[in-house]
Amino acid sequence: MNVFVTGHQGYIGVHLVELLQAAGHSVTGCDLNLFEGCEWEPVARPEREIVKDVREISAEDLRGHDAVCHLAAISNDPMGDLNPELTLSINRDASIQIAKRAKEAGVPRYLFSGSCSVYGKGEKLDLQETDPLNPLTAYAQSKIETEEAVSKLADDDFSPAYLRNATAYGHSPMLRIDLVVNNLLGSALSYGEIRIKSDGSPWRPLVHCRDIAHAFVAFCNAPREVIHNQAVNIGGDSENYQVKDVGDMVQKLIPSATVAYTGEVGEDPRNYRVNFAKLSELLPEFKLEYTLARGMEELHAKMVEHGFSQQDFEGDQFVRLRTLTKRLEKLDLCEQAS
Ligand SMILES: NC(=O)c1ccc[n+]([C@@H]2O[C@H](COP(=O)([O-])OP(=O)(O)OC[C@H]3O[C@@H](n4cnc5c(N)ncnc54)[C@H](O)[C@@H]3O)[C@@H](O)[C@H]2O)c1
Repeated sequence: MNVFVTGHQGYIGVHLVELLQAAGHSVTGCDLNLFEGCEWEPVARPEREIVKDVREISAEDLRGHDAVCHLAAISNDPMGDLNPELTLSINRDASIQIAKRAKEAGVPRYLFSGSCSVYGKGEKLDLQETDPLNPLTAYAQSKIETEEAVSKLADDDFSPAYLRNATAYGHSPMLRIDLVVNNLLGSALSYGEIRIKSDGSPWRPLVHCRDIAHAFVAFCNAPREVIHNQAVNIGGDSENYQVKDVGDMVQKLIPSATVAYTGEVGEDPRNYRVNFAKLSELLPEFKLEYTLARGMEELHAKMVEHGFSQQDFEGDQFVRLRTLTKRLEKLDLCEQAS
């Protein structure tokens, strides 16, 4: 299969390139390299690479591919709040445009990297795909509006699917520490303090970044009728955790660290547990490779090996918002968005 991957240089994308190639697929990557220089470890290179803004992807770029895995996005809630127009332009408008161009180019499958954040403050715990959506941010809104618009393009020759990923964590050669688990591990290791910004009670569905990549490969390989126009939560029922439990698990790994509840976010509105039954019903052979405990252990070992420091915790390399704020000026992305 020839697979076109956008955002292949990102936290999840670098795992996906490696796993697609390992499964025998040939990969074209398209990325603006916004985080160039932020690599932690060497990354897998696709067979073909296009360096461009996904808003400029043409039908010609896509022709000849069997599937598009669309991951490129401004993948950050605070960034979405800072510049909602930019988030909607890249995350929603470009995502819809790529789906239209893929269809025009005869690409039969379009797999969208969505998010469980579409559920927002759930009315109930254990949210399913059919439950009402309640976006709290421009980022979540962009994911919902893309699903809605792209679903109208589905037909006998074009099968989109929407992978609603849980919050990612874990090791990647393009590490991020602006995600809850990685952040708590990083602060424990560098400052000896597990800084929990809420009172620790909110529930979060968590999934290893490599398991998200595994899910994309499974969606590439699945029979068309199984995934056709389906929204599917990506994660595991036993992988919903309260933030305070994550803090306790970090403390087990780093016993010298203390837990501090800073309460700085006040009552955290993002409190939701997600049901992942549909994933196992549609793809019974798909299994998560990681539990949170195993993924944390692995990342902790990697951080120790790399000598993860206070400078790393405070620097730009692993925090998307800090790097993006600088690169936006350089790349004039804001101007293009207006
Ligand atoms: N990380 C998570 O917890 C999580 C959870 C759910 C969903 N997702 C979704 O998965 C996808 C990948 O997330 P990630 O954590 O790997 O993000 P990331 O920020 O690490 O990677 C995004 C990649 O997209 C590229 N990119 C951004 N805007 C672009 C543009 N206009 N043109 C070309 N390239 C562009 C960046 O250069 C980067 O390499 C995103 O769509 C995100 O919304 C992530």
